[in-house]
Amino acid sequence: MGRRGFATRQVHERAQAAAPTARVTPIYLTAGFEFDEYSDAAAHFGEGAGYAYTRIGNPTLEAVEHRLAALEGGSQGLLLASGQAATSVALLSLVESGQHIVSSTHIYEGTRGLFRDNLSRLGVETTFIDDIDSVDAWEAAIRPETRALFAESISNATNRLIDIAAIAAVAHRHGIPLVIDNTFATPYLVRPIEHGADVVVHSASKFLAGHGSVLGGAIVDSGRFDAERSGHLFPHLLAPGRGPGGVAGPSIADRVGGDARIAYARESVAPRFGPTPSPLNAFLIGQGIETLSLRVDRQSANALALAQWLATRPEVASVDYVGLEGHRDHALAKTYLPDGFGSVFTFTVRGGAEAARRAVEAVDVFTHMTHLGDVRSLVLHPASTSHAFLAEDERAALGVEAGTLRVSIGIEDAADLIDDLAQALSVATRVDVAVVA
Ligand SMILES: Cc1ncc(COP(=O)(O)O)c(C=O)c1O
Repeated sequence: MGRRGFATRQVHERAQAAAPTARVTPIYLTAGFEFDEYSDAAAHFGEGAGYAYTRIGNPTLEAVEHRLAALEGGSQGLLLASGQAATSVALLSLVESGQHIVSSTHIYEGTRGLFRDNLSRLGVETTFIDDIDSVDAWEAAIRPETRALFAESISNATNRLIDIAAIAAVAHRHGIPLVIDNTFATPYLVRPIEHGADVVVHSASKFLAGHGSVLGGAIVDSGRFDAERSGHLFPHLLAPGRGPGGVAGPSIADRVGGDARIAYARESVAPRFGPTPSPLNAFLIGQGIETLSLRVDRQSANALALAQWLATRPEVASVDYVGLEGHRDHALAKTYLPDGFGSVFTFTVRGGAEAARRAVEAVDVFTHMTHLGDVRSLVLHPASTSHAFLAEDERAALGVEAGTLRVSIGIEDAADLIDDLAQALSVATRVDVAVVA
């Protein structure tokens, strides 16, 4: 055969050498994978064997899913394009129209909006629990059609904790899962599955990736779905599957047993709704996870030092950090967070919104942005940003006042962070003296 044309060569030429064994899983930045044998295509579509298309499976994503499941003490992981995608896919795998979720009130506003404005339009109602310490409050909110309990391990924006084991026991009495958003704590500080939670979700954009460069999300499942106990509540996991030729095949629960929830999320919900992360982003998340414990150790130590210092400052009305002894959930924190109390918290500056604005404008080491879990320290004014669309009493119930600032503490030198806040607080609360000519 003669030399092929330019256009053919520019897309088809490639080296024939076998791929070397890379120590780090490479970035498989490809939409799809070649079928080596004719029968591989049918085997993939029939039994899910091998790789075909990145929305269905990709080795770079799977490497991260495996690592995260191992760190959370779960059975399997599923990587998604953002934290919101992870929460959406996890819940859409559990609930359907006419069903119900019970959630802590103390959660990320984006998740609250998802429950309040989006899942509600699909016919899924949510009851929010304010008194999250009360096992009775959770129990009382459960209805026959409730299919999940939801809470954050350390809550955004206030540092509320739940007694994971106690709330998991409530869920299990009703045969339903406890879903925990573990974004703020990370598996380094707490592994909710070890305390009885069933499903963990993450915004991997935060501590897992760690450097503020990518978005990502993840679900990790305990693998403890019990078809006998809970199958009647989740009939989609027990329904016959579709085999080749439209013939009824085994159900997901028959095929994978305790992994039925995450298999349904992976095979049915995620690929259909489609929030697949880029393999490049997956790679960066996987690389971030390799230093997770080092960063979170340092960030927690810095946060504790800063919170203790802020608590002594006359310019500061209150500090809401679960690592401080006076925090209402400190006893729970000592049980659930033995290796550190996390590094995102709020404090309230005396002088209201104006003092908060001046402090934010005066910081130099801190970055003013809406993000958290970054190696850099960040600051945000929730009342005018993340919580701006709430009524004042709703904000107050969530611990957000006019002078409240949320900080996410990075890995810088603690002394520089303290110096930066010291000068910002002095600017924030300085009484300007009008100069009379
Ligand atoms: C606790 C928590 N969960 C979920 C999310 C959503 O994550 P993402 O921004 O990756 O969609 C956030 C974002 O701030 C968060 O703080």
